[in-house]
Amino acid sequence: MSELSDRLSLLAEPVRVRLLALLEREELGVGEIVRVLQLPQSTVSRHLKALKVANWIERRAEGTAGLFRMTAPPSGAERLWDLVRDDFRATAQAAEDASRLDAILAAREEDPSTFFGRMHARWDALRTELFGDEFTTPALLSLVAPRLAVADLGCGTGRALAELAPVCKRVIGVDREQAMLDAAAMRVGNAGNVELMLGGLEALPIREQALDAALCMLVLHHVVELDTALAEVRRVLRPGGRAVVVDMCAHDREDYRRTMGHQHLGFSPADLRGHAEAAGLILSSYRVLPPAAEALGPPLFVAVLTRP
Ligand SMILES: C[S@@+](CC[C@H](N)C(=O)[O-])C[C@H]1O[C@@H](n2cnc3c(N)ncnc32)[C@H](O)[C@@H]1O
Repeated sequence: MSELSDRLSLLAEPVRVRLLALLEREELGVGEIVRVLQLPQSTVSRHLKALKVANWIERRAEGTAGLFRMTAPPSGAERLWDLVRDDFRATAQAAEDASRLDAILAAREEDPSTFFGRMHARWDALRTELFGDEFTTPALLSLVAPRLAVADLGCGTGRALAELAPVCKRVIGVDREQAMLDAAAMRVGNAGNVELMLGGLEALPIREQALDAALCMLVLHHVVELDTALAEVRRVLRPGGRAVVVDMCAHDREDYRRTMGHQHLGFSPADLRGHAEAAGLILSSYRVLPPAAEALGPPLFVAVLTRP
């Protein structure tokens, strides 16, 4: 391909044009760019790399963070860039990006005196770069009282079990699929306080009032006999015990019934309250969770059902 075709194909990607327009105006860290473009960090990093390889931008290190800015367009590409940039500037997207960048630059200027004063706009990216993203959940789980007996109902491959095992006295995983329990067993290894049980939510293999808390994460939408299952949840909770439900907010993706066997298209607060009350539980809270930028499914909620 000729140099011009290479450049045309580089600039044919709208994200790269947005990046160049930003970085022509200001030197920015990845975290700042992610916030302006509202795209996943992996997408931003991929396009930054392509632009850097083609010599449209350069990276400078500040601490362990990288700051990016646009260099002059590669020799011979000046007219092309003028055309592309002028075309982009006339769009609503350009105005949106510019106003988010203004907000970020204004915040930067608030406290230039200290390391964190300068870094706060980039701190999330630097935190991930230095320490990863995995430590916050286990740290927060240490707030849980250590005497709890809990069960993860529909535990699947045991992701939550593995997080709960180090901080609870007793953890039970229930699932109706042996293959899921086998995967969960691999994941939790030889944690002595975890029991895995084959069974359905409609007839839980757990004795009455054995639990302080139960988790129903992404499982209730599969359950046909929802009132029966929630009555079982009530039976195994001690009085005052709580069931935490994570599931999809009400949605209209009918195809999920066919493609994934969903029985319910999410739950509104009223749906959940109705089923909870039919089973003798109280809907104590229902909170819509912030969606991850890369998530394709409907928004999720977390709700608490309490046994009076
Ligand atoms: C979408 S997965 C979610 C797994 C896990 N809770 C998670 O968050 O990754 C649903 C799980 O619930 C199990 N399941 C579905 N209906 C069930 C029922 N009636 N009783 C017990 N387990 C059930 C499935 O076998 C599957 O492992």
